Amino acid sequence: MRLKILTKDDPVVRSVARPVDPAWLKGPEAQRLIADMIETMRAANGIGLAAPQIGRAIQLVTIAHRDGALVLANPEIRRPSRRQLTEEEGCLSVPGVFGLVARHERLTVHFLDTDGQPRSLEATGLLARVVQHEVDHLHGTLAIDRTNRFTAGRP
Ligand code: NI
Repeated sequence: MRLKILTKDDPVVRSVARPVDPAWLKGPEAQRLIADMIETMRAANGIGLAAPQIGRAIQLVTIAHRDGALVLANPEIRRPSRRQLTEEEGCLSVPGVFGLVARHERLTVHFLDTDGQPRSLEATGLLARVVQHEVDHLHGTLAIDRTNRFTAGRP
């Protein structure tokens, strides 16, 4: 089921999300929510979606990756590279607005998978950027808060 994507002025989008319980993650409610978030992300042509964007202030993120989707619960960024890259970013909660945002070029993210198991992933390039964008969402921070130069966006 496609969910409604909330925009930047919604209080949930601006809230700090709480961690999820590993046991809850394995249950039917979480599994349905994850499937709905992936469907919603794809339908909106997004490459990432965070639960606060669909009205749930919990630490759950979906990211389009290769042919499938990565699901990160309670993600924590560790060992971010000193080197940063500045590139254009948009956000489903701020439609039609794009800006240049500096992000760490690489990082390690620790998270729980959909079985509630702890995992870690090394990310670089676009994936590292999306991870940082989505983890920001869990703190109520949007890309527009991090840009000092708005751009036209890609056609
Ligand atoms: Ni976003």
